[in-house]
Amino acid sequence: MRVPIIAGNWKMNTTIAEAEALVRQMLPELETIDGVETVVCPPFVSLDAVSRLTQGTSVQVGAQNLYHEPKGAYTGEVAPGMLVGVCRWVILGHSERRQYFHEDDRLVNQKVAAALDVGLKPILAVGERLEEREAGRTEEVIARQVRVGLESIPAPESLVIAYEPVWAIGTGRAASGDDANETIGLIRGLVAKQYGDAFAQRMRVLYGGSMTQDNVGGYMAMPEIDGGLIGGASLKAGDFVSIVRQAAEARRGQ
Ligand code: 13P
Repeated sequence: MRVPIIAGNWKMNTTIAEAEALVRQMLPELETIDGVETVVCPPFVSLDAVSRLTQGTSVQVGAQNLYHEPKGAYTGEVAPGMLVGVCRWVILGHSERRQYFHEDDRLVNQKVAAALDVGLKPILAVGERLEEREAGRTEEVIARQVRVGLESIPAPESLVIAYEPVWAIGTGRAASGDDANETIGLIRGLVAKQYGDAFAQRMRVLYGGSMTQDNVGGYMAMPEIDGGLIGGASLKAGDFVSIVRQAAEARRGQ
């Protein structure tokens, strides 16, 4: 059985002091929950502080982005090697990176490869925009994001994929459990084509988009959904703890 992952994407929120306070608030409760991998992804400037606070605990740390070059004249960017020892995970291809910073599948592919090269575990985010969904293009868009995003990358054992329909992010308009389950099944099928069925069955695929403590149970009851990538609700200690706790309970009950 796949171990669920609940990852909090803090996006561009929290100063260093706020990040420390948030993690201090969550830690004691998160430490009591077994059976779920819990990851928090603060902004770059807080990674070190959060990493120190979570050292030796069950809570893991992730970055929200990286640049694929190892070093050099790329003002403002952060190289994969700079994250080694500070965090274990990295979110790549998030729709906000695609939308506001014009990241395309090719660049995401380079980033995934670069992350794997230094031993970081990528959470590859994919998902269709509202107009793509309404035009009946969901499958085509997801298929391209997965295929190009993973092109020429040999079986990435640590890879996690997050299905985040763009229209569900930060809108309160979450995908239904059935819809998310179906698309995640599709993603698993695409991955099986590239890396084989056994690999695809081992790989965790998360849902993201307005996931909260009120709807997490419904997603976790779905056979294809292995957890969540949480935005807004990951910034409230009580909500995030409740989501992690419910994910653990749901999996135990299955
Ligand atoms: P919300 O949970 O705020 O909808 O954000 C989801 C997300 O984008 C996580 O990466």
